[in-house]
Amino acid sequence: MNFPISGTKGNAQLEMNNLILVTGGAGFIGSNFVLKMIQDAGSTIVNLDKLTYAGNLRNLESVSENRRYSFVQGDIIDRDLVRSLFEKSQPSAIVHFAAESHVDRSIHGPDEFIRTNINGTFALLEEARAYWSGLSTTEREKFRFLHVSTDEVYGSLAPNDPAFTENTPYAPNSPYSASKAASDHLVRAYHHTYGLPTLTTNCSNNYGRFQFPEKLIPLMILNARDGKSLPVYGDGQNVRDWLYVEDHCDAISLVLSGGRPGETYNIGGWNEKRNLDIVKTICGIVDEMAPPIGRPRSELITFVKDRPGHDRRYAMDARKIERELGWKPKETFESGIRKTVRWYLENEGWVREVTSGSYRNWIATHYSA
Ligand code: NAD
Ligand code: TYD
Repeated sequence: MNFPISGTKGNAQLEMNNLILVTGGAGFIGSNFVLKMIQDAGSTIVNLDKLTYAGNLRNLESVSENRRYSFVQGDIIDRDLVRSLFEKSQPSAIVHFAAESHVDRSIHGPDEFIRTNINGTFALLEEARAYWSGLSTTEREKFRFLHVSTDEVYGSLAPNDPAFTENTPYAPNSPYSASKAASDHLVRAYHHTYGLPTLTTNCSNNYGRFQFPEKLIPLMILNARDGKSLPVYGDGQNVRDWLYVEDHCDAISLVLSGGRPGETYNIGGWNEKRNLDIVKTICGIVDEMAPPIGRPRSELITFVKDRPGHDRRYAMDARKIERELGWKPKETFESGIRKTVRWYLENEGWVREVTSGSYRNWIATHYSA
């Protein structure tokens, strides 16, 4: 269903709907969230997405005809469009996923990261503030601006450092994480200065269905399937904390309904793993699930030049969200990674579609040096 973005309804006469305006809902986490909220929570969703290389409407085919779902193709930086969406849909919340999200791309070309992640978030905040200011007192209290962010804003940990908490000082190291940190600060300021009821979630590395195969886990699954080399940066000892995407979506949903305005919530899987171990695990599962290639796929592992400024370790202390909202990850890494490998092996059409054209150019440019 397409959302009518031109019309004559005035803001003042309308009552706020029980509707969520989602940005970036055609991306990896956003599409998992939209599906969950429509299918499990009965929500009504308006999805605003620019459909960059990372956005894919195929992820949302199962709800495309649903009366509680509508899609608008557009840029979050387009304030006229965002204003008209607020006016026409009268949302009770906005959940903001839209971003440029890949660290390596931010190193090759940071401009879009600054534009979308910082200026785009600013545009949304300004239009949300204008809309929210015009609501009745009760509606103002109910409204939420939920900003989806990352653990990368906290920088890098030494091997024995305690995990990041919500009070860890920000120390972003890549253009991507710096742009996300800037957006987090803007969100914080809009609560502090204007009282906008914001919520920020900072989550660790996600994995699961619909992740664009430029990121570690899907890239390794597909290269392993095809018997291609598996490019591990540096010594492969960098550590990330991995969370199954559906657990992240559950956490966002809980923060949206029960989080305290102005607060930030760390979300993580309590699953610290070295990159090399992740890749070896994937090789073993692909060997088991896909046709053999004549040798163990772990022999495809190739150490390549390290990422500049590569953060050594991330780890999340997710005790606040557990204590306040009762959230804990449901999926173990062992079960989540098997589901994920199976999904990529069984969804050849999706894979073929996203790995055509510009994807091949990215892989050729990035891994050529
Ligand atoms: P993604 O790259 O898969 O999807 C981003 C989506 O945003 C795409 O659908 C894209 O078309 C859309 N988009 C990009 N620029 C836009 C613009 N200017 N206007 C409108 N739409 C635009 O990203 P993801 O992995 O799903 O991440 C979603 C959010 O979660 C991001 O804010 C990211 O920083 C955050 N996050 C991601 C992870 C992770 O592991 N992937 C972890 C923690 C936080
Ligand atoms: P990535 O999925 O890009 O997420 P992030 O950089 O946001 O954590 O990378 C995860 C880890 O895997 C990171 O330490 C970089 C590493 N990596 C490789 O070793 N090889 C690769 O080809 C890619 C894409 C990532």
